[in-house]
Parts: sequence; structure tokens; C-alpha cells
Amino acid sequence: LYRKATPTTLPSFLLIGPSGSGKTAFLTLTERKAVAQTHTSTAPLGVEVLLPEDYMPQSSHYRSPGDPAYERSRRFLLLDTPGHGKLRHFATKQLANPANVRGIIFVLDAASVAEETGLNETAEYLHDVLLALQKRYTEATTSKGPKEIPVLIAANKMDLFTALPPHLVTQQLEKAISDVRKSRAKGLKDSGRTLGGEDEDLDEEREWLGEGGEGSFEFVQMEEVGTTVTVHGGNVIGGESADVKSWYEWIAAQL
Ligand code: GTP
Ligand code: MG
Repeated sequence: LYRKATPTTLPSFLLIGPSGSGKTAFLTLTERKAVAQTHTSTAPLGVEVLLPEDYMPQSSHYRSPGDPAYERSRRFLLLDTPGHGKLRHFATKQLANPANVRGIIFVLDAASVAEETGLNETAEYLHDVLLALQKRYTEATTSKGPKEIPVLIAANKMDLFTALPPHLVTQQLEKAISDVRKSRAKGLKDSGRTLGGEDEDLDEEREWLGEGGEGSFEFVQMEEVGTTVTVHGGNVIGGESADVKSWYEWIAAQL
């Protein structure tokens, strides 16, 4: 009778990204409004949270604060996933069936992407996430077409002096993803050749992220498949205080 709405009906946001980028730190900050020590995650974790009061859910712009619908619209589910390479199946599973997902927050360490190893690891993961979203779109069978799923690239740890500023994070990632895309295509071609596969060309097309041709990958290409990619810098911990304002603004715009 007075049963609470089940969490699964809440709009949800998926936290994805390499290990140590700050996903759980952001979840903790949002849940407790204070930073806390985190440990590397080994399992997914869903927490019901409220959009902080300084932000206005997009759907409530014409509602007044006393309106129960206004209060309800501030509630959402944050789904944290482990970033370790061996534990990404949790995130992949969520991506394969993104029920109620309003957006994906890909958290990265902006200092780590200043170096080649960190950049490549991050670009590979992001490539796979974007490719999963592209496939979901192009392979959809509904007449309406699948819902759009925006992606926020949360360039975290801006408090570190080695962190790349957001526009360089964007540039470097686009370049690195172009390389990932090329090497994956080459891998497919090589294996197709040895197997003598007939669907080789088809496969190549399905596995190619973004636009074909010689050009490089750019995030805007994802708009063709229902995904707008936005990059915003921030820091959950460190500095004078946390600065995740632009991330909450992005979340508010999807609610
Ligand atoms: P996995 O659970 O392994 O996938 O990692 P995670 O993304 O959940 O990382 P977590 O939130 O546990 O943070 C990893 C480390 O980075 C912790 O020591 C945090 O204190 C630290 N950290 C998180 N955000 C920031 C930040 O904005 N600046 C700095 N300097 N450190 C941060
Ligand atoms: Mg974690």
C-alpha cells in the first residue's frame, strides 16, 4: 500500500572507467556529501541518491519546490562498477541491458592520461564502452529506435598539477581511440584471413567505431548513434575542496 517505489524504476547513471579513477569516491561524495577513504571495488554497487539542492532537474524547471514531483525528480540511482580489467564484466553486463539508464559517467584520471600507458588503457576501455552503445543503437529492432544514452567523460583529479586540462583530455583520447580502432580492425582482418571468414567485411563494419574512412575518430561522430559525448573536468578529492559542479549540472540536465 505504502510501498516505496522499487529502485529499478528510478532513473540511473552508470559509473564506468579504469580502476583508481575515482568512481567510488564520487559515489561516496554524492551519498554522504563528504569525501571518504575508498578501496578498489570488487563488485558493483547501486546507491539511491539525491541531486544536491543547488541543481535543478531538467524536468522540474517549471515546478515549484513544494511540489512532490519536484522532490521526486531529484532522486536517482548511481551504479558504481569495478574498473579492474578482470572485473569489467559487471560493467559490460549493465551496458548490454541499460534499463532506466539516463546516462553513463565515464570517470578517468586526468593525470594518468597524461602518460602513454594510462592514456592507452583509458582509451581502450572508452572505445569498448562507446562501441557497445553504438551496437545497441545499430542493432536495435524496435521501430521507435532505442533511447539516446549520453556519456559524460568526467576528467577527474584536476587538483593534481600533472592533470591534463579537459580540452587536451579530449584531444588525446580522440587520437588514442583512433589508434585503438585501427588496431582492432587489423586484428579482425588478420583473424578473418586465417579463418577464411565470409562475413569478414560485415564484421569489420560492425566493429568499427564511428565514421568509416581515413579520418580520425571524433566524439561528435557518436551523435549519429544517439550518444552525445561531453567532457568536463573536476576533482572529487584534493584541492581546496571537491569540485564536481559541472558533473552535477550534467546529471541535472538528464533528469
Ligand atoms: P576501482 O574501484 O578500482 O574501479 O577504482 P575507483 O574508480 O572506484 O577509484 P576510487 O574512487 O576508489 O579512487 C581511487 C583513488 O583516487 C583513491 O585513493 C581516491 O582517494 C583518489 N581520488 C579520487 N578522486 C580524486 C581526486 O579528485 N583527486 C585526487 N588527487 N585523488 C582522487
Ligand atoms: Mg571503486
